Amino acid sequence: MCNHRNAGIIGIGSAVPDKVLTNADLEKIVDTNDEWIRNMTGISERRMAAEGESTSDYAAKAARVAIERAGLEPKDIDLIIVATVTGDMPFPSTACIVQNILGCKDTPAYDLSAGCSGWVYALSNANAFVRSGIYNHVLVIGADLLSRVTNWTDRSTCCLFGDGAGAAVVGPVDEEQGLLAFELGSDGAGANALRIPAGGSRKPCTPEVLLAHEDKIFMEGREVFKFAVKIQGMAIEKVLAKCGMTTGDISLVIPHQANIRIIESAVQRLGLSMDKFFVNLHKYGNTSAASIPLALDEAMQAGRVKKDDTIVVVGFGAGLTWAAGVMKWAY
Ligand code: ACO
Repeated sequence: MCNHRNAGIIGIGSAVPDKVLTNADLEKIVDTNDEWIRNMTGISERRMAAEGESTSDYAAKAARVAIERAGLEPKDIDLIIVATVTGDMPFPSTACIVQNILGCKDTPAYDLSAGCSGWVYALSNANAFVRSGIYNHVLVIGADLLSRVTNWTDRSTCCLFGDGAGAAVVGPVDEEQGLLAFELGSDGAGANALRIPAGGSRKPCTPEVLLAHEDKIFMEGREVFKFAVKIQGMAIEKVLAKCGMTTGDISLVIPHQANIRIIESAVQRLGLSMDKFFVNLHKYGNTSAASIPLALDEAMQAGRVKKDDTIVVVGFGAGLTWAAGVMKWAY
């Protein structure tokens, strides 16, 4: 057992459905318009999974890319964590289904539920396992098909969400590289602000429940907005302080891609310029646990993330939860 080695992302990938649903398409479904959606959220379009597809399909696609980019094979993966709130089924875990698709023989696998903060929560789990020497290579996936749990008659939520997956392989890296600190938190008093009311043990699905769309996302948008604005900047400041850094040390922030106004509020609070924040929500909307790794992968492919850069990831979501991490990019 090797104690306290550094752990970092050594490969990253993502996958999104081909089908695009534009704001103009939404205008045909609910009473909304492109201008309102773009002004209030920054979103222009989102991706929709096809009938018959499931979260594990996209999780596995993203994972294959991440494993290949890490120069590894599925047999080299020691643990699979899938952050999701839209698993293929209530059980078994989607991680087990992904394990089978990838052919990671006998590899332990579990799901993690922390809403849109889920992937950063999972990343912190992977960090602990690799740092401690318990595992060498942990596959950390964030995957959600929110279109499956969207109430397509509710104009205040249906314009926000999209489908996708992102994945990273976490492995040992050189000293002072990789994942440096995390700041995780939750406030269950806000559990009702963002939820799917039925389909669990509290309220099983009945024909009445389905008619009332209680098997779909319910959100108190204003409450979530206020929470997000407060917590995002605070989480970044706290996680930077944990590794003796300030906002001046940041090369790039990869924020949860929920709403451009929430991101702009963090830019203001931290006194940074907008180009320090990577944004791709106009193309994908809010993809929940997939949002941060999908953005990180795009930033990487666009040359916005380079070796030794200080990258901050930050998310917030159902729970209510929040999570931020700082890393020195290791490759
Ligand atoms: N098109 C046109 N008008 C709309 C739409 C729409 N799609 N949706 C709402 N409106 C109207 C409302 O009916 C309301 O009209 P009224 O004033 O006549 O009553 C008006 O616009 C304002 O509506 P609000 O809901 O009060 O608007 P708000 O300023 O709160 O913005 C929004 C709504 C964009 C959803 C905002 O609350 C938000 O972004 N919240 C955070 C959402 C979020 O990020 N959630 C994800 C968290 S992460 C996770 O785990 C999934």
